[in-house]
Amino acid sequence: MKINLVKQNDFNSIESLEFSEHDIDDLSENELLINVHCCGISFADILACEGKYQDTPPLPFTPGLEVSGIVEAIGSNVKDFNVNDEVVALCNWGGFSEKVKVDSKFVVKKLKKMPFDLAACMTINYGTSYYALIDRGKIKPGDKVLVLGASGGIGLSAIEICKARGCHVTALASSENKLSECKSYGADELVLTKNDNLKESLAPLGRRKFDVIYDTVGGSYTTDSLSFIEWEGRLLIMGFASGDISSLQTNKILLKGCDVLGIFWGPFARGNKHFNLDVLNGVNDLFNKGLIKLSKPTMFHIADFLRPMKEIKERQSIGKLCLYTDSFKRR
Ligand SMILES: NC(=O)c1ccc[n+]([C@@H]2O[C@H](COP(=O)([O-])OP(=O)(O)OC[C@H]3O[C@@H](n4cnc5c(N)ncnc54)[C@H](OP(=O)(O)O)[C@@H]3O)[C@@H](O)[C@H]2O)c1
Repeated sequence: MKINLVKQNDFNSIESLEFSEHDIDDLSENELLINVHCCGISFADILACEGKYQDTPPLPFTPGLEVSGIVEAIGSNVKDFNVNDEVVALCNWGGFSEKVKVDSKFVVKKLKKMPFDLAACMTINYGTSYYALIDRGKIKPGDKVLVLGASGGIGLSAIEICKARGCHVTALASSENKLSECKSYGADELVLTKNDNLKESLAPLGRRKFDVIYDTVGGSYTTDSLSFIEWEGRLLIMGFASGDISSLQTNKILLKGCDVLGIFWGPFARGNKHFNLDVLNGVNDLFNKGLIKLSKPTMFHIADFLRPMKEIKERQSIGKLCLYTDSFKRR
């Protein structure tokens, strides 16, 4: 079968990606073939294409970790799905494609009332934030949460999940536009980044401390976060959008009696089938009850894949960006 997909042949840069026609292999017994409607784009796609991701796949590969679509074929051993089911899947790469094969363990049925574009973007952002904040960070009503990089893909999902649990959310972002996006997802308090420096940015808040800090930025933001953590607070290490990794001062961790938690959703989700499904079902439940709306992505046709990837790389994007195929357009 011939399909169009995006392919990375070397680790030079995202510029060396190409969109072209390829054959797709036969299904193995536990796999589903999904006719992709939408595929979320994540920071990890950019890092993987540049050979900088923790879990970089071997070359050549097709980026794309999260898709929504319709089941087109099932392997001989697959029990829980039928052809034509509407699904959401966490892929082992390969999502920037018209069709993708996915192990059925990492597929859930899509809620009928959840549109394909929202569904494609729930797996990584909302799965990550649900796992980080609810399972690991143990947020509770009234907690004061500071979200760094709050207008980004995982940042907005963190805002929504915290608000769904009754927390007070302070969002940090680098422009008024980005901050108003955070407000539309429920942030209670907005802080504009000053000189990419956390201490300067938070100075107007006085001696405020936070029960939970959700750090997507890394570098000096992580180091400085320890000054703003409440006694027995939780610092969630989510990612390194700044490209820098901090060396933490362990004396501050002791003095604050705080927890520093490393969160890595992908391998966790892949290694633990039931919990993965619990997390995604938890996200579905919040959506079903109207407690979260899921971030509406900005959509790009799959052939136009480079534009959104550059926007993310150049820090121009707001919220989630997503690719769609012709199958999505036709519906
Ligand atoms: N732990 C996990 O399992 C997991 C899951 C998903 C993503 N991540 C990681 O989390 C991080 C954020 O992912 P995302 O999808 O939310 O990315 P994104 O949509 O591109 O957002 C990243 C945000 O970081 C901020 N930022 C601050 N300094 C930056 C810099 N020097 N360069 C670029 N951005 C900078 C930007 O906001 P401002 O301009 O407002 O500062 C931007 O909105 C990435 O490192 C990603 O790999 C981790």
